[in-house]
Amino acid sequence: MQKKVLVVTGGGDCPGLNAVIRAIVKRASQESEWQVIGSIESYNGILKEPMETVILNEQAVAGIHVRGGTIIGTTNKGGPFSWPYKKADGTWATEDKSEELLRKIKDLEIDAVISIGGDGSQKISQKLFEMGCPIIGVPKTIDNDLSATDFTFGFRTAVQIATESVDKLVTTAASHNRIMIMEVMGRDAGWIALHSAIAGGAEVCLIPEIPYRIDSVMKKINSRFKKGKGFAVIVVAEGAKPQGGSATGTESQEAGYQNVHLGGIAYKLQREIQDAGCEASIRVTVLGHLQRGGIPIAVDRLLATEFGVKAFEMVLEKEFGRMVSYRHPNIVSVPLQEATSEYNYIKQDSFLLKTARGIGLSLGD
Ligand code: F6P
Repeated sequence: MQKKVLVVTGGGDCPGLNAVIRAIVKRASQESEWQVIGSIESYNGILKEPMETVILNEQAVAGIHVRGGTIIGTTNKGGPFSWPYKKADGTWATEDKSEELLRKIKDLEIDAVISIGGDGSQKISQKLFEMGCPIIGVPKTIDNDLSATDFTFGFRTAVQIATESVDKLVTTAASHNRIMIMEVMGRDAGWIALHSAIAGGAEVCLIPEIPYRIDSVMKKINSRFKKGKGFAVIVVAEGAKPQGGSATGTESQEAGYQNVHLGGIAYKLQREIQDAGCEASIRVTVLGHLQRGGIPIAVDRLLATEFGVKAFEMVLEKEFGRMVSYRHPNIVSVPLQEATSEYNYIKQDSFLLKTARGIGLSLGD
């Protein structure tokens, strides 16, 4: 009898999603009774009338491991528990469609669901599991902010892009005796910022885990300039904040979007440095979604492929309510509940921070 596994990708996209999808399909194709179905734009594909789904066979996934994004689309607006819809008066509201989703999954005779997504998506997976859905999670985010896995795929591609950007900013900063501030993504964790600042050799790195003092930043900048000559590169995480202050961002106007749009800290920092009397010219680069697009680097393709194979093997073993996890050197599984209970901040006693301080990288504290 034929068996079906439904695959969804949810939340912001991330390099490596397609490599996970391909690995699930390739592993599933070794078991003759299994068919893989993709739901377009996360659970929207199932909830929409008519449904939007796609059969994922070997032909459909050929060569996609090198492609960024996700061939089945994604969304980070709402979800089955808070589905955004437009009311007759043109305003937006949300409704709980989780019962309907599960009924439709049952009607389609789906035997298992694999949800590839970050923190928010896996919280949804846990709730669906509690309602009886045979679901497995695969962690994804460029932010690396899930504590239940050593790394998420996509993170190291984002770090590579950010590091190459630091390399580029160094040469132009040096030519013009400038200060370059580069803002990177990462939400409430400073992983992308700190990794790229160390790898690229920046002078200052500001992360959410260590609120900064502007006089400390100025001390480092001043040490880098002699008689107007010199340069400095500052990498700032989008969630960074001054001591006693809060992160910079705006409430979203998009229906169903639940996160604050973080961003703007680089411009705030530019003003603070100018106000502190700095005479060097300062330029700002906000790297934005360049960090999320394009080809995944080899280690991310590899991790994503391992995650895909593991996820399908968990389907075969009926390990529902659990998430794939990388615990060096193994790929294991952890309960979804555990996977979403703790945010992955950079620890104050980590060797990463020790390394940063050990090479004289200012953390602004
Ligand atoms: O979680 C991934 C991420 O890229 C964050 O680093 C960033 O704050 C956010 O998503 C941006 O989201 P959006 O694509 O909705 O602008």
